[in-house]
Amino acid sequence: MTTNYHPIGVFDSGYGGLTVLKEFIALLPDYDFIYLGDNARTPYGTRSFDVVYEYTLEAVQRLFDEGCYLVILACNTASAKALRTIQQRDLPRIAPNKRVLGVIRPAVEEVAGITKNGHVGVVATSGTVASESYPIELEKWSGARVKQTTQEACPMWVPIVESNLMNTAGADFFIQSNLQSLFQKDPLIDSLILGCTHYPLLIDSIRKFVPHGGVQVIEQGKIVARKLQDYLYRHPEIDENCTKSSVHRFLTTEDAHFFEVRAEQFLGYPIQAEKIEL
Ligand code: DGL
Repeated sequence: MTTNYHPIGVFDSGYGGLTVLKEFIALLPDYDFIYLGDNARTPYGTRSFDVVYEYTLEAVQRLFDEGCYLVILACNTASAKALRTIQQRDLPRIAPNKRVLGVIRPAVEEVAGITKNGHVGVVATSGTVASESYPIELEKWSGARVKQTTQEACPMWVPIVESNLMNTAGADFFIQSNLQSLFQKDPLIDSLILGCTHYPLLIDSIRKFVPHGGVQVIEQGKIVARKLQDYLYRHPEIDENCTKSSVHRFLTTEDAHFFEVRAEQFLGYPIQAEKIEL
């Protein structure tokens, strides 16, 4: 790629981040984007802190090498386990003029304005749940509007999406049992955060198994896109480095054709992918 290509980097362990990229493209159609899916090493959700951090840093470094000045970790697990260390320890050393942002804080700020009774539920990977990032951030950023956060780890949901098994009886079994367990722990939950970027692909089953229509289900894509737009507006020094030719590239650590077929299902149009090594 030419040196005049400075896209916004979007990273996920697999396909889930495409649900975020789709909203970025819809809201910021002029910008260049480069997506990196670490499909060969997905899922991250069951991996240790150190491994998720190491993999995420490799991906961020690769996206910097591709010309990015700004990288969005469109993955809650990476945001929960690696973002802070990368921001505080690595960036000042490897790229002080570049930025890495995550997806947890935008969701947290949004739910604070949505919940009526302060009872929030979070479904996420085991890694995100164990990190306690959502309860901690909700306490910090919700302005005391969130009184109780209840989490449920859903280790099967990412493999269901990665294996294209959405809307099957098997998927419904796991989704129903995880949601049942969550709402048993707190029946008063009125807002449910989908704390994993893969989960919007399971939205039909999720809506089927929340106990009543009054529960607001919060997907991250549109929220994170609005926050990115706002960030670029507030940080012209970063924005001016991001090129705007509507060019979108897709990198995967798995087979490129495999990625192209699945990505088309996520995005609704065909793309070309490149296989890379991290
Ligand atoms: N999309 C990632 C997230 O938001 C999935 C993590 C995984 O690979 O388990 O957490």
